[in-house]
Amino acid sequence: MRGPQDGGGGTAAGSRHGAASAPVGVGLIGVGRQADWAHARAIRRSGLAVVAAICDADEVLLRARAEAYGLPPERCFTRYQDLLECPAVDAVTVATPNHVHAPAAIAAAEAGKHVLCEKPIAMDAAEAVAMLQAVRRAGVRHMTAFTYRFVPAMRFLRHLALAGRFGDLRAVRSRRLMDWPDESLGWRQHRATAASGDLGDMASHRIDYAQSVLGPVRRVHGLTRVFVPERRLPGGAMDPADVDDWCAFVAEFEGGPVGVFESTKLARGYGRGDAGTDEFEINGSAASAFFRLRSPHALEVGDAGGAMAPEAVPPEFLAPIGAGAALSADPGLAFRENQMYEFLDAIRTGRPCSPDFLDGARAVAVVDAVLRSAASGRAVDVAPVA
Ligand SMILES: NC(=O)c1ccc[n+]([C@@H]2O[C@H](COP(=O)([O-])OP(=O)(O)OC[C@H]3O[C@@H](n4cnc5c(N)ncnc54)[C@H](O)[C@@H]3O)[C@@H](O)[C@H]2O)c1
Repeated sequence: MRGPQDGGGGTAAGSRHGAASAPVGVGLIGVGRQADWAHARAIRRSGLAVVAAICDADEVLLRARAEAYGLPPERCFTRYQDLLECPAVDAVTVATPNHVHAPAAIAAAEAGKHVLCEKPIAMDAAEAVAMLQAVRRAGVRHMTAFTYRFVPAMRFLRHLALAGRFGDLRAVRSRRLMDWPDESLGWRQHRATAASGDLGDMASHRIDYAQSVLGPVRRVHGLTRVFVPERRLPGGAMDPADVDDWCAFVAEFEGGPVGVFESTKLARGYGRGDAGTDEFEINGSAASAFFRLRSPHALEVGDAGGAMAPEAVPPEFLAPIGAGAALSADPGLAFRENQMYEFLDAIRTGRPCSPDFLDGARAVAVVDAVLRSAASGRAVDVAPVA
């Protein structure tokens, strides 16, 4: 097992790297939708790792996944504490409801396992900081699954912004609009298991992205709404919902830039998932740039005095990160595979992951501040996380 002593990167290598060492053994904590279609698939395609063990509180689902992944019963657990004792597990993914992220990730770090944790990494900033301290203490690789950072056009947009292509950065704008039915969202509709609604679920991706370009958000002015206070369970009973269906906030970044963010899954007619409306825009002193997820391989850029015009993403931003196997031809799968390559390549080489738990904690601190601002009707300062 690789542990903190060797930085996790000294021995593992995939077949593509020519070294005769074992692939990274990944334990999946939570094997619901995201773990299966994003993480397990990317691990299989990576050439760098194998699914070594799985854990889920739902025994029926656990058995179904065990069969699909070809895992024997001794590699399947209903408690993550037991999975963490499995010697074949070098690293874990945590893709459970949000309230399980912190205890599972902290236990994993304390057991010397590298951790890829889903967003939002924690229920609040205090929990996120405890996670950050745990991974730093343990010296393990740590990564937050801000998946859209790996969309080729978003990688290219960030590169251009940081390289000064748009001049001094002044403002960003984010719209994430989807159309989900009014039916039960399960754990996602309860504050006790999710902490927030669309704010933590979708807007947190954009908060992280904006902070990765502009630096930390200093203050927010937020507003949230519950549009559907009761949602229908599969059996027909109604289940109260107490998290935001819609959120919007204005952000002030350190140093002066500003941002406007809106996110909801109740924008009728707007589609779901990658087919929904996901737009991010940057205005600088020299130029503006516009991204939409429906065109993951292109941006629009407009220079001062000119007009917005398409700009293709260069091939190096379409390529696999590290030395993973070839990416899926489907762009929606390819960027999710690149997220996993980032984690596995960091383990393999001993380098830090990006985005990491610091990024995850900084995003949670902004979510906390938006919730407090919406509740109080006042602007709220974001607690700094370092
Ligand atoms: N990065 C992204 O783009 C993205 C996309 C979708 C979901 N997510 C995140 O992934 C996480 C999971 O979302 P999902 O859609 O897969 O949810 P899901 O409900 O499909 O899966 C969660 C699984 O966790 C299991 N679980 C609950 N408590 C557990 C425990 N104590 N130990 C082990 N397993 C437990 C559940 O039984 C379930 O199978 C969430 O944090 C969500 O925000 C991220």
